[in-house]
Amino acid sequence: MRVLVTGAAGFIGFHLSAKLLERGDEVVGIDNLNDYYAVSLKRDRLAQLESTPGFRFIELDIADTAAVAALFNQGGFERVVHLAAQAGVRYSIDNPQSYGQSNLIGFLNMLEGCRQQAVEHLVYASSSSVYGANEQIPFRVDDNVDHPLSLYAATKRANEAMAHSYSHLYQLPCTGLRFFTVYGPWGRPDMSPMLFADAITQGRPLKVFNYGRHKRDFTYIDDIVDGVVRCLDRIPKGNAQWSGLQPDPATSKAPWRLYNIGASRPVELLYYIELLESALGKKAQKELLPLQPGDVEQTYADVSALMRDTGYQPQVKIEEGIERFARWYRDYYRG
Ligand SMILES: NC(=O)c1ccc[n+]([C@@H]2O[C@H](COP(=O)([O-])OP(=O)(O)OC[C@H]3O[C@@H](n4cnc5c(N)ncnc54)[C@H](O)[C@@H]3O)[C@@H](O)[C@H]2O)c1
Repeated sequence: MRVLVTGAAGFIGFHLSAKLLERGDEVVGIDNLNDYYAVSLKRDRLAQLESTPGFRFIELDIADTAAVAALFNQGGFERVVHLAAQAGVRYSIDNPQSYGQSNLIGFLNMLEGCRQQAVEHLVYASSSSVYGANEQIPFRVDDNVDHPLSLYAATKRANEAMAHSYSHLYQLPCTGLRFFTVYGPWGRPDMSPMLFADAITQGRPLKVFNYGRHKRDFTYIDDIVDGVVRCLDRIPKGNAQWSGLQPDPATSKAPWRLYNIGASRPVELLYYIELLESALGKKAQKELLPLQPGDVEQTYADVSALMRDTGYQPQVKIEEGIERFARWYRDYYRG
């Protein structure tokens, strides 16, 4: 298959591209290599992909409407995995405009490209943050998600609705995946595993919000990639049983699906820090702080729909995942 992966220099895009190449797909990766976090890490990921046959990289901003249209015109993509976005919950408080550009205009450009070129299937990244003020645990795809607590979450929720309109109007098959805190080798420097590992190894105090009582459904990158590939291979059809009288929020008459993708095993932050301490062989100095604006206290994915439809089964337990992350972290930052 010829697959377009957006955000290919990013954490998930890099791992997904590597997996698709490994099974023989042809991958065109795009990314604007912005400096939200270390560009060197993005370039190092890309260097690995570029040494693999079947991969081609194009530096491009998805908010550039003409450039995206030209890309689709020439691309001949059969399927698209759209991962490029301005990520991060806290950053959206100081930099709202970049979310409008990348997550709304960029997303619209993707939809248009897919529509114009009759792409077979668009799989795109949503986020567990769409659950916002919902306190029903575990989070289920049929829960109400109309109360986002950050602009980031609001743009991800908007993507789900935008995809539905295209799916309805143009029969564009779309699958939205609500990722739950992804971690692992080549991870993101703005997320807690890397922030904590930096602080522990450098002997700096680490900021532990909500006094460490947060629970996060940490999901190992290989499980995420496995779920994305399973979805990519399964083009959704309209749900014939769907009724406008009792609308199911996760399916539609249109070929449009939403799934949670997570480990479905929430872990308390303090336990997570203990695992990191032991994997890195050093104690943390913890600075216990209150809950941050825009943060939610607990995330917990109900993944039964994804299991039922695709056979998804998360494999990597947190203890093993942290070991693997710490091994990579020590190697990468020593070199
Ligand atoms: N990692 C997680 O825990 C997590 C959780 C929920 C949702 N997500 C979503 O999954 C997707 C991938 O996340 P990630 O962790 O790999 O993040 P990432 O920041 O590592 O990757 C995103 C990539 O997109 C690129 N990008 C951003 N704006 C762009 C633009 N305008 N044009 C072109 N490229 C652009 C960035 O340079 C980056 O390389 C994102 O949509 C994110 O919102 C991730």
